[in-house]
Order: sequence, then structure tokens, then C-alpha cells
Amino acid sequence: MSGKSWDGAKPAALQAAGVRVGYGEHAVLDGLEFDITPGTVTAVIGPNGSGKSTLLKTLTRLLRPATGAVFLNGAAITSLPTAAVARQLAVLPQGPTAPGGLTVGELVEQGRYPHAGPLRMLRMQDHEAIRTALGLTDMTAYAARPLDGLSGGERQRAWIALALAQDTPMLLLDEPTTFLDIGHQLEVLDLIRRLNRERGLTIVLVLHDLNQAARYAERLVALDRGRIVADGAPRDVLTTVLLAEVFGVRAHILADPESGSPLCLPYAFVGRD
Ligand SMILES: Nc1ncnc2c1ncn2[C@@H]1O[C@H](COP(=O)(O)OP(=O)(O)OP(=O)(O)O)[C@@H](O)[C@H]1O
Ligand SMILES: [Mg+2]
Repeated sequence: MSGKSWDGAKPAALQAAGVRVGYGEHAVLDGLEFDITPGTVTAVIGPNGSGKSTLLKTLTRLLRPATGAVFLNGAAITSLPTAAVARQLAVLPQGPTAPGGLTVGELVEQGRYPHAGPLRMLRMQDHEAIRTALGLTDMTAYAARPLDGLSGGERQRAWIALALAQDTPMLLLDEPTTFLDIGHQLEVLDLIRRLNRERGLTIVLVLHDLNQAARYAERLVALDRGRIVADGAPRDVLTTVLLAEVFGVRAHILADPESGSPLCLPYAFVGRD
């Protein structure tokens, strides 16, 4: 654990307190204490099955804790109306699905419903937000195309556009770069950084690429078997010990020549306890 404090003066944008959550009887996360400070970029890392998506689903009310609670800007998230939550946080789930035949434009339009009145009439600012989200994700030319006729990466960008169209102060993205070629990966990560720096968005993202996580996030949270085992600045979290103990990988850690952030060179899977 690093000594850096994430519980500064600002009230947590999102806070999990004493959370036990899982599927049926099986608890994936137990005794979870977790705070997200407004205006920060946090990357959640960890092996497959360690509980990253479960954490994101819990923070965004897609899963209800058996014990404990999640607070959004200080209010119990379960006590808030759905549209109020959707105006505060947008989610990119892992492996999202949509009804067959839906076009990219129709999908992205759904991001505006939390802002619309009861008749879901789109106003000028809604069309503007949709246009902006499609532009930021390079999807303008695909607006009329059905989602199920797109490549994996194009579809992923359409879902990111949906989250952006929601125009929320918080974005929670579960593996936003999967399926994307390296150019589009960097484009999405640069966009995330811009949204944070220029518009002050609070961002939580799950990433498997540890070097990208270290480069784009100021805070890394490492999960292992449902427990937070490291939490802090990338240089404190991304260590050879963590790589060995959490991922079962022998690695060297260098300093990235351009950004100075830790750069991990994994050499071999050596297994874990
Ligand atoms: N819908 C579900 N029903 C039952 N068990 C589930 C369900 N979803 C996930 N799990 C289990 O919960 C644990 C944590 O899963 P989770 O999806 O949070 O992992 P993850 O860290 O996101 O993994 P990955 O990197 O593969 O996406 C795993 O053991 C998984 O098998
Ligand atoms: Mg996952």
C-alpha cells in the first residue's frame, strides 16, 4: 500500500463502505472499503476473475451489496432515482449487448434519455451531445449502421460513444480498450485523459495493459481474489513483487523513457500460490 491518501478534503464521488457482494450465496468482494476522489483517474487491475467487473457493477448499482452500501456524492446510491444516478455516472460494461437491429445512432441516443423529459423527446442539446460523442469516438460515419454488422472494435467504440453522450461527471469503463487496435486504444485513452484534465471528469477504468494503466491513471488499485492488495501511485503499485504475487509473472520494471511512469516487461509465467 502506498502512503498516499485518497480521502482528502473533497467528499468521495463514490464510496463503498463495508461492502459484501457477489452472485447468489457466493461473495466475490467482502469487507470492501473503497473511495474515489472527484477529478481523478483510477485504473483497476488484477487477474481474470479477481473481481474487477464485480467492483464496477457494485459501484454503479448494477449489483446490490448483501451488506454495506455504496454512496454517490454522499447519498446511498440505492436511495436515488435511476435517472438521477444516470445523470451522475455513465458505465461501459464488459461485453455489453443490445437488441438486434439497433443502429449506432439509436444506441448512442439512449445516452440522452436520463436528460430528457417523460416523452423522451430529443432537444437540440441532445442532438449536439450525440454528434459530439460520435465524433470523439470516430463513429460519425457509422451512425446509420446496425451494431451487429460492425467489427468488434467499431462496436466497442459505439458503446463508448453511448457512455460519452450521457455527459456525466463520472465515467466507469470496464476494459474500454479491448478489441481496439493500438491506434484506437491510444485514441480512447487520450480522450479519457482529456476529459479528466479539461472537463474535470472522474474516471474509473479497468485495464489489463499494466503499462497503459500506469501511464494514464494517477492511481492504481490491484485486486486479487476479491481483495484490494495494493492501492496508490503507479510506481508504488507496479512492482516486481506485485507482478509475481498477483499475476504469477516474473518481470522487470523500468522507467518509461517518455513519461517516467513504470514500464513492466513480463518474461515468464511462473505460477502463483
Ligand atoms: N453473473 C455471475 N454469476 C456467478 N458468478 C459470477 C458472475 N459474474 C462473475 N462471477 C464470478 O465472480 C468472480 C469475479 O468475476 P469478475 O467478473 O468480477 O472478474 P474480473 O476481475 O472482471 O475478470 P476478467 O478480467 O476476466 O473480466 C469470478 O469468480 C466469476 O466467475
Ligand atoms: Mg471483468
